[in-house]
Amino acid sequence: MGLNHIISAYQFNKENLRKIFSESDKIKRGNFDGKALKGKIMATLFYEPSTRTRLSFESAMLRLGGNFISTENAAEFSSAIKGETLKDTIRIVNLYSDLIVLRHPDNGASELASKYSKVPIINAGDGNGEHPTQALLDLYTIESRVDREDFKIAICGDLRDYRSSHSLSILLSLYNKVNIVYISPRSLQIPQTLLKYLKDKNVDFSQTENFVEGIKEVDIIYQTRLPKEYMKSNEYEKNKGKFTIDKKILLSIGKKTLIMHPLPRVDEISQEIDSDFRAIYFEQARNGLYIRMALLLLLFDKA
Ligand code: NCD
Repeated sequence: MGLNHIISAYQFNKENLRKIFSESDKIKRGNFDGKALKGKIMATLFYEPSTRTRLSFESAMLRLGGNFISTENAAEFSSAIKGETLKDTIRIVNLYSDLIVLRHPDNGASELASKYSKVPIINAGDGNGEHPTQALLDLYTIESRVDREDFKIAICGDLRDYRSSHSLSILLSLYNKVNIVYISPRSLQIPQTLLKYLKDKNVDFSQTENFVEGIKEVDIIYQTRLPKEYMKSNEYEKNKGKFTIDKKILLSIGKKTLIMHPLPRVDEISQEIDSDFRAIYFEQARNGLYIRMALLLLLFDKA
């Protein structure tokens, strides 16, 4: 695949995406060697909470015959609490594992870790920076459901801080027929550096604060949680509950508009719409397993 560390969505191009997605397709059909990664040990080093990302990586490793060691609350239960630097922790975990999956509250933490790591580092979320493997499973889900490159997608929420929206935008820029509608309060807009990148790539995008208008005529709504942990408390209080997809909103969107969410959700998608055929966020989470299995096989050259 030509990748060692997976730090950022900027590392991907159409060619390595094809490889990852076709490998994921095979895995989805049950076509994989359950002993391919026998003897390999993955370390999941999580300094922030996670359900899907950590458990799907661990499940992926086990399904491929490998094993894992884990600190699910590394901020408190690893030596970080004693003052050990990330650099030292990474050097040590290198001695015990063949691959490190890292989630950390600091933007840039994975990149820093990769400088001190001989084994591959996978960025499983670095503060309000990026979450590249989430974006891979998001795009894989989109491709499996929409068979055109000229689709329109609304990405909604706190786009300043929500890392999955950054990584997904970067991957979408590889599709120059896509049209992105960014919906957020003015103070929580997608970073300017990212917008400049999209402009340079000739990606068609617009920005609005109007949720109802913004989601009206799109093929996909990519809804997100307000990341309270990164927002100022007044920002959270001011914006919570503003953009909720409920039964009433469903009546105003397209009959085929798909609703995605990286999850976890709080109140931005009402549970009453879970059974609607357009709500595909659980399928999206399931795809995370296939994508992560594919990534592990490719990183260990076993695909
Ligand atoms: C996201 C994350 O942690 O970046 N979760 C995930 O990995 N699916 C989103 C979130 O925390 O809201």
